[in-house]
Amino acid sequence: MHSHLFNFDAKKSEIGSLVAIQSPESIPFDIQRVYYIYGVDSKKYRRGFHAHRDLEQVLICVKGSLKVLVKTPKEEIIYSLSSPDKGLFIGKMIWREMFEFSKDAVLLVLASKKYDEGDYYREYSDFENAFFSKGNNL
Ligand code: TYD
Repeated sequence: MHSHLFNFDAKKSEIGSLVAIQSPESIPFDIQRVYYIYGVDSKKYRRGFHAHRDLEQVLICVKGSLKVLVKTPKEEIIYSLSSPDKGLFIGKMIWREMFEFSKDAVLLVLASKKYDEGDYYREYSDFENAFFSKGNNL
């Protein structure tokens, strides 16, 4: 499955830390969109519950902590994000759910394309059918 955690090269010193992200050196696509998620009441809600046809993303938990389930019909992995110098790359055709947000969590997302609702699979069964019909080896 095409997802992995990686480290950004943080410039750390006594005056604090700085992470600079530029493509293609730091992430494997040109960034066309940035968004962030915060204020999630994790006791009540999970987020995500979708896959993308073509979109690639890097998720960075810049504050607090959360978990990300990534899933295909073939396998499933849970990542824990709790450090602003770690990125989680999620490729296309991967189902994701985000949960266990800490109260202060801020999830920054870098995306390879602009927002397009047509790129989403919002029903797992649709994603599963598409995954198999593409003869998917992702
Ligand atoms: P959604 O992708 O469903 O969020 P999550 O997967 O984190 O639960 O998006 C929530 C809402 O925000 C939905 O109405 C679409 C809208 N949205 C935009 O308008 N632009 C964006 O870039 C994103 C990611 C979402």
